[in-house]
Amino acid sequence: MSKGWNDRAPAGRLAYVDGRYVAHGSAGVHIEDRALQLGDGIYEVCGVEDAHLMDEEEHLDRLERSLREIELTMPMSRTALKLVMRELVRRNRVRDGLLYLQVTRGAVRRDHPIPERSPRPTLILTTRAMSPDVFGARRRDGVAVITRPDERWGRCDIKTVQLLPNLLAKTAARRAGAYEAWLIDEDGVVTEGSSTTAWIVDAEGKLRTRALSNAILPGVTRRVILEAVAAAQFPVREESFRLEDTATAREAFISSATGVMPVTRIDGKPVGDGRPGPVTRRIQELYSLTSAGRAGKTGK
Ligand code: PDD
Repeated sequence: MSKGWNDRAPAGRLAYVDGRYVAHGSAGVHIEDRALQLGDGIYEVCGVEDAHLMDEEEHLDRLERSLREIELTMPMSRTALKLVMRELVRRNRVRDGLLYLQVTRGAVRRDHPIPERSPRPTLILTTRAMSPDVFGARRRDGVAVITRPDERWGRCDIKTVQLLPNLLAKTAARRAGAYEAWLIDEDGVVTEGSSTTAWIVDAEGKLRTRALSNAILPGVTRRVILEAVAAAQFPVREESFRLEDTATAREAFISSATGVMPVTRIDGKPVGDGRPGPVTRRIQELYSLTSAGRAGKTGK
């Protein structure tokens, strides 16, 4: 690891790797780690607001599910993992930001099949503090998205660290001056964003997002929004939409651990009147209230 690769990490920032809190800038895993050699691992991303982990239980539910799907077990009990997550947020004094968690199959001589005798899984936890302004502006003003073909595999419901198609799509978006890429399947249907769930308010004013299947990640934020809108008796359809539907959509937005962001342009064309719409604003409110309430936060 060359000196200074992580120069911008705040002094004293820690990572948790294989049972120890270590300096983030010099933390590492074995070169034979199967995530590095084969992409054999699972990850999660949890938002941190006011030093609280958002939607923590749902992220851990999904972690357990993803691990099960690739025949990995939790690296420690859920209770212990929660303690470590909170401890890292505390030690790094993260007020607002993200917590990343990766579980890999561990380090073992390279060979494709899942080893008969599994090595000890590698558990990596890192945090990133972010000024709330970074996302605040995007949540307020909205973002542009472009569309790209969905070139991912058939099990997008598993949150694996194999993210090449996602990062290529995201790179294309950034190079086009957009924030996100919506992925379009072979039938012209929007699957999801490269790292977000895709939503529209259709021409009839109904909130729409694709139903869960192997084609999309079961977004935690998606689930919390659906629960919140059901409680508020808001009309919603878990039904996919086509690229053409975005042309007549009144509003569009994306959701993820980084929050709910209005989409104001798709492939350069304005969505609705090109400004964040009232339904999106309501969803932002409902989501904040619901997840903040459950995280035990007050006053937001
Ligand atoms: N991405 N779809 C994809 C492909 C994602 O990678 C994500 C999350 C989501 C939204 O899921 P959630 O609401 O649980 O964050 C949808 C995270 C933030 C990431 O990869 O950084």
